[in-house]
Amino acid sequence: MLNALKPQPADKILQLIQMFKDDPRATKIDLGVGVYKDATGLTPVMRAVKAAEKQLWEVETTKTYTGLAGEPAYNAAMAQMILDGCVAADRLASVATPGGTGAIRQALELIKLAAPAATIWLSNPTWPNHPSIIRYLGMAMTEYRYFDASTGTVDFAGMLADLAGVKPGDVVLLHGCCHNPTGANLTLDQWAQVADLLNAKAAIPFIDLAYQGFGDGLEADAAPTRLIASRCPEVLIAASCSKNFGIYRERTGVLIAISPEAGMRATTQGNLAFLNRQNFSFPPDHGARLVTMILNDPRLTAEWKAELEEVRQNMLTLRQNLADALRAATNSDRFDFVASHRGMFSRLGLTPEQVETLRADHGIYMVGDSRINIAGLNAKTVPILARAVAQVIG
Ligand code: LMR
Repeated sequence: MLNALKPQPADKILQLIQMFKDDPRATKIDLGVGVYKDATGLTPVMRAVKAAEKQLWEVETTKTYTGLAGEPAYNAAMAQMILDGCVAADRLASVATPGGTGAIRQALELIKLAAPAATIWLSNPTWPNHPSIIRYLGMAMTEYRYFDASTGTVDFAGMLADLAGVKPGDVVLLHGCCHNPTGANLTLDQWAQVADLLNAKAAIPFIDLAYQGFGDGLEADAAPTRLIASRCPEVLIAASCSKNFGIYRERTGVLIAISPEAGMRATTQGNLAFLNRQNFSFPPDHGARLVTMILNDPRLTAEWKAELEEVRQNMLTLRQNLADALRAATNSDRFDFVASHRGMFSRLGLTPEQVETLRADHGIYMVGDSRINIAGLNAKTVPILARAVAQVIG
């Protein structure tokens, strides 16, 4: 049987982790996978997470199974953090999932159960694992324009023109904040126009919220999701705690499905629990428990928010410094957009050959589409990257 297997293509982002490890150069710079790193290159365990883990070790008396949907307290705390009460609780169904990817996978499976013929609309570009999972599940997908590479900004006119083609019941996947890979985001006014368009078309928004707190702040980053949730009758939200709680390997995510009316909630909830059971039974608990403890304890919440804000400010400073350094090194404003992008990523707009030269000649690793992880930089490496980019673009 196993001899019938064909090799799978390596994940373009995760592949970089190994390539970087294998590179013996001491001067190498890792701007690949979306993991926050401090100025020393460490991905720290956040202070509030450490404190919660200590408490948990003391108070946890059992590791027996939780509910199929995860702990209700976790799901409620996440709904509160994301939606802040903008949708009545009796319209919300939710399950804990193994990370944000697990939430996306479960959402797509839910769509497949409810509307197998629906087309999923993806931004061009998007996180490569979106189309990969959709293709794997054998679902229909198409793209809408999103990014204007020549200006480094959102091509909003193109986006609206393409979304005008959605059919009733189609699902439109949107990055709630900190668009991955471009770093370019809609304004709230543009989000409102998208909500109106989707409602007019009877299409369903599906929001991927993996970076809440990394862009303009915890509340500001949730504002587009809240706007959509307030205006659209039916919404799916896949959220991740990997980045904002720094608990990547704990696999902590949540899928929230908003029903148009309270009467549909129980069946939706039952289907979400069913899907968890089919795929992995119970979702991972440790990370979810830490998040619940942090969000339900004002002292831990304050500590966590303060550190998250430090992380965000650090990335903003790096953005500004990189934009300035690129302006100086290239003697042009071509890369000014880096300062106005938000989140971990910016797409620099280099060719695959230029990206390869940066890796081969300068030991600088970024995704092939020239997406960089801003947090992979520090005060020392910002000018090195700027000079190298200036060199490869000639
Ligand atoms: C990324 O885009 O680098 C992150 O979301 C990590 C991943 O799983 O790809």
